[in-house]
Amino acid sequence: MDKLLIQGGVSLKGEIRIAGAKNSALPILAATLLTHDTVKVCNLPHLYDITTMIELMGCLGVEPIIDEKLNVEINSSSIKHFNAPYELVKTMRASILVLGPLLTRYGQAEVALPGGCAIGSRPVNLHISALQAMGADITVENGYIKASVKGKLKGAHIFMDLVTVTGTENVMMAATLAEGQTIIENAAREPEVVDLANCLVAMGADISGQGGDTIVINGVDELHGCTYAVMPDRIETGTYLIAAAATRGRIKVKDTRPDILESVLSKLEQAGAEIKIGENWIELDMHGQRPRAVSLRTAPYPAFPTDMQAQFTALNCVAKGSGSITETVFENRFMHVHEMNRMGASIRVEGNTVIVDGVEALKGAPVMATDLRASASLIIAGLVSENETTVDRIYHIDRGYECIEEKLQLLGAKIRRIPS
Ligand code: EPU
Repeated sequence: MDKLLIQGGVSLKGEIRIAGAKNSALPILAATLLTHDTVKVCNLPHLYDITTMIELMGCLGVEPIIDEKLNVEINSSSIKHFNAPYELVKTMRASILVLGPLLTRYGQAEVALPGGCAIGSRPVNLHISALQAMGADITVENGYIKASVKGKLKGAHIFMDLVTVTGTENVMMAATLAEGQTIIENAAREPEVVDLANCLVAMGADISGQGGDTIVINGVDELHGCTYAVMPDRIETGTYLIAAAATRGRIKVKDTRPDILESVLSKLEQAGAEIKIGENWIELDMHGQRPRAVSLRTAPYPAFPTDMQAQFTALNCVAKGSGSITETVFENRFMHVHEMNRMGASIRVEGNTVIVDGVEALKGAPVMATDLRASASLIIAGLVSENETTVDRIYHIDRGYECIEEKLQLLGAKIRRIPS
């Protein structure tokens, strides 16, 4: 298994480009199953999760055509199977996103039930109950969700008990081809949900309210092809900015969207960063100063994203003062804390909150990544350590960060991949 070797102590400086958003690209790829026409998806990030989704299309009998820029053309008219096997679902929970499209387009779908993962139990009961409310017959047997519908799904008024991103996306996709109107209340407002809705509209869907907590979808008879560019990745953007702030650096990130990062930029300013923004770029300058610790609480968009709390924990480790970080979305997203404490951090966990007392610098150590965002936070911890850190199990990072060591090298970091 590859590892990352990091020699800490360098302030990040320079410019990088941000890739397309993983969590938009995955549902958009699934949405291509909703039409027999060709959909061209551009600005896909080079990530394992994207490869897994393309492999899943292959299992269904669809043959995506990929060009050298990783633009993908998908024509799902060659579909032969309607099932997402456990072998793929276990490596990527987002495989559940094919459930809504397959069911509404073909009247049948079998998707392995995703299990719990390193960050929590993550049930999909809300996806299932919403589709049942639309007339689907669903059973869970032998580890598989087996769904079918006679005729078409029916539009329904659905109240989501919890804000769920992929749940909202699955129901929205299913509703595009259902009979009549579907209203999703307490819908996720995440920008990735909006990006998917915009792609569906470009395919001929009738959707309004995306970005708010009530989404209205009027079913249409069929969708058509389109060319759609995935929006920039806000979590990748935030991760590099936090890394620059933690290392007292100065960086510019390009091809991004400052307008969807407000909660994160405001925390970076509280940490002492000077932030400048343009339409598609963000500049951060710490003026060589040590960051101040910040406190935050995660919650669905537009509040602070759960996908960025671990990175701020790394920043707090070396900040002036103490900060508390409360996680409200997932029940077990603090696995990185124990690794950071092994690097000399002073962090204690109290329920769903971690309290961090900043120290001058961390001490490098061999550490192990447990999930995608935890891996990113350990890399930041390595960058602010006095000596050498190795991060093991970095397949997690390759799922969600495109060429992370190359981008960090561009910013001056001493980091390299050690092949197994
Ligand atoms: N939940 C339920 N029942 C459901 C669905 C969700 O109880 O049927 C609970 C979950 O267990 C969790 C909460 O609701 O406690 C929110 O989960 P959500 O469904 O919103 O998460 P998700 O859709 O599985 C997406 C992202 C995650 C991101 C979360 C929260 C994708 C592919 N994944 O997951 O991204 O953390 O929303 O914003 O969009 C990542 O990129 O590292 C990542 C984990």
